[in-house]
Amino acid sequence: MINLLILGPTGTMGKLISTLALEDPEINVVAACDISNIGDRLDNFTNIKDANNIFISDIDNIQNIIEDTKPNVVVDFTIAKATEKNCLICAKNGVRSVIGSTGLSEEFLENLEKLIKENNAPSVVSSNMAIGVNIFFKMLSIMSPYLKDWDIEIIESHHNRKQDSPSGTAITAGKIISSAIGCDFNNVAKFGRDKGINKRKVGALNEIGFHSIRAGDISGDHIILYAGAGERIEFKHQAHNRLCFANGAIKAIKFIIKAKKNKIYTSNEVLGL
Ligand SMILES: NC(=O)c1ccc[n+]([C@@H]2O[C@H](COP(=O)([O-])OP(=O)(O)OC[C@H]3O[C@@H](n4cnc5c(N)ncnc54)[C@H](O)[C@@H]3O)[C@@H](O)[C@H]2O)c1
Repeated sequence: MINLLILGPTGTMGKLISTLALEDPEINVVAACDISNIGDRLDNFTNIKDANNIFISDIDNIQNIIEDTKPNVVVDFTIAKATEKNCLICAKNGVRSVIGSTGLSEEFLENLEKLIKENNAPSVVSSNMAIGVNIFFKMLSIMSPYLKDWDIEIIESHHNRKQDSPSGTAITAGKIISSAIGCDFNNVAKFGRDKGINKRKVGALNEIGFHSIRAGDISGDHIILYAGAGERIEFKHQAHNRLCFANGAIKAIKFIIKAKKNKIYTSNEVLGL
């Protein structure tokens, strides 16, 4: 049985994940922690009533909560600075993790990897858990080498509450394209156009431009624009709502409980792509 700890259960993603987890016969929700709504019933934030007797706990007490409720998996969709603290505490306690928060630092990922090995607590870290997005990523790795002489720009749109930019998904897409083409992401990534453009060299990609739109309640759109002489391709993924990410998180929770290697897994591995 999966004994699940939910971090950020009263957020937009947290509510959806809590609903799916409470409905799932393979998952036993043992605790939920947040910085707000402490003491409220978890099921008040879902469309399931009287599902269980879980109350929202204060995330500052996460160590005690782990000791008392003994989760074997934690799911975290909060904000990077909270994830970077709380998921390390979980890993130290041998709790496997599914991390959806975006904007995580390389330093955190290195520390997490170390604790995973020491405590037999593998993790899935993915900036986008939607099945379609991960197939989109796969297609980028196939098509980009054929278009390496063209200009490549990434345009992403999200709701006006999103904290980080560009999106984690846009950065992942840029890294996949750079690696498929054989160039260093850090050398080619160009965020915005306020500092002008690099002179493009014919036949060599020296820049991938990233552009972020923050407006209304857009769930998440990503366009990869490949532009050549006299023609262009726009390869696009659109999330209609956030259920696709929550379903992906539940798949990842069921995957990580059975994972054999002490490492950070990607959504590609969860989905067998
Ligand atoms: N990986 C994916 O597929 C995917 C999909 C959608 C969103 N996201 C990411 O998930 C995260 C959450 O997104 P959201 O739209 O649900 O955000 P949200 O603002 O609606 O919810 C954030 C939750 O985190 C909690 N929180 C805030 N500060 C905290 C802290 N210091 N300690 C503990 N909890 C804290 C909030 O109380 C809330 O419950 C973001 O990083 C977002 O980019 C990832």
